Amino acid sequence: MTHRRSNRQRNSWVVSLLDVQPTERVLEVGFGPGVALAELAGRATRGQVYGIDHSKTMVQQASRRNAAAIRADRVHLTHTAVDRLPSFDQPLDAILAANSAGFWPDPVERLRQLRQLLRPAGRIALASQPRCPGATQDTTARAAQELHDWLIEAGFAQIRVQTLDLDPPVACVLATNPADESR
Ligand SMILES: C[S@@+](CC[C@H](N)C(=O)[O-])C[C@H]1O[C@@H](n2cnc3c(N)ncnc32)[C@H](O)[C@@H]1O
Repeated sequence: MTHRRSNRQRNSWVVSLLDVQPTERVLEVGFGPGVALAELAGRATRGQVYGIDHSKTMVQQASRRNAAAIRADRVHLTHTAVDRLPSFDQPLDAILAANSAGFWPDPVERLRQLRQLLRPAGRIALASQPRCPGATQDTTARAAQELHDWLIEAGFAQIRVQTLDLDPPVACVLATNPADESR
């Protein structure tokens, strides 16, 4: 129960940091039960929200949670893995992944590919609230450092870290796709 409340708080906080605007196009990778997708759809009211997850069960749960927005053609969910990204007809404004990047194969390569989907100056938010037994503030700090290093290696810029004081704390690492296309 405590976990569930903290999952909701984590997702809601991360979406708020991404500062999604009404007409934006946003992708969530590893959406799980779809809590953040619902928040994203509540912000991108005239935009589009896309989600991918490799778990069929999670796609079913998130589809139920976001049924109205899916029917309205504002939320689009795809059952696929992050190393088999679908194509998008236009560049994305923002990408979000909460408690997911740590599971990806070759995360730096995945982040490079995700960066290709973003418009110049598009944003990414990677969040981590470690769920291993005995996780502390230090566990979160180490997870944040890892996400930070991956984002740098994948060519993102303007990296900054924010922390939400839950138990254990949540770190959200935010970054931008450089406007300079030569990177
Ligand atoms: C711990 S859950 C987090 C769910 C949600 N983002 C949240 O914070 O509540 C991790 C999610 O990432 C998904 N995931 C893990 N590895 C993935 C991959 N390689 N490709 C796509 N989704 C993946 C899982 O299926 C799961 O739904």
